[in-house]
Amino acid sequence: MTKPIVFAAQSLASLRSVYPEGPALLDHQLREHPLLTPEALKSLALSIRPVDVEYNRADLPVGIDPTDVPDNGLGIAETLDNIESNGSWMVLKFIEQIPAYRDLLAETLAEIEPIVCDITGDMLKLEGFIFLSSPDAVTPFHMDPEHNILLQLKGSKTMTVFPADDEELASGEDHEAFHAGGHRNLQWRDDFAARGRAFELSAGKAIYVPVKAPHWVKNGPEPSLSLSITWRSEWTYRERYAREMNAALRRMGLNPASPKRFPHQNHAKSLAWRTIEKARRTLGRTG
Ligand SMILES: [Fe+2]
Repeated sequence: MTKPIVFAAQSLASLRSVYPEGPALLDHQLREHPLLTPEALKSLALSIRPVDVEYNRADLPVGIDPTDVPDNGLGIAETLDNIESNGSWMVLKFIEQIPAYRDLLAETLAEIEPIVCDITGDMLKLEGFIFLSSPDAVTPFHMDPEHNILLQLKGSKTMTVFPADDEELASGEDHEAFHAGGHRNLQWRDDFAARGRAFELSAGKAIYVPVKAPHWVKNGPEPSLSLSITWRSEWTYRERYAREMNAALRRMGLNPASPKRFPHQNHAKSLAWRTIEKARRTLGRTG
């Protein structure tokens, strides 16, 4: 049987023209997939580890401290059954923990693998996320650590994407706290708004979001369903290790320069941090 084609040639060309640093609007063909029906997704939500189902109320401002995000007071099934009216936002994380979804993720990402491999090397750590949300739900201003394509399956949303290298939006300390386990949400200021680029996502559209490019999302007037397919590259790991090295330098009272964006590779600091970590692990085993 021939595998369905998710991304047509034009979308692949668009992705290749911007990857990995520019956002790009794409078309996709996953809307009718049997693993993405309401019934299948409810079963998925109740099958994955409870810790991987995150949900809350959705009537949020663009910027909010994660500790201020209110519960919706409902269970998982109840939230999904009435998502059109209960003012909620839910994400199902790491859907690849269920084999059928792992296969869907792998097959879809295989279509773009040649582009990724040509530019950032092997496609690493494939992870998938499903977002279900009520009309007008807001996902506050935040950044994510992966190369990400968000596919809109039902309803519509506007995603506003900001430059990944703007240190007023996300400072060196913000990046370092994020890699030390801090929350993804970033502090918002109204004067940031003009720096963002808004993309309208109707069902059948997708967007490529560069690694750590800050963004926020506002749903349209209908319930929304989206699938996020993500991967890492050696570049993302080097950037992370350089940030961890910077955190160590900052603890020593220094004010280190931030790692540079692609195509810079951040080899020196990431190698330094990997060497320190390796020495620590060796000492931990023998000391
Ligand atoms: Fe995100």
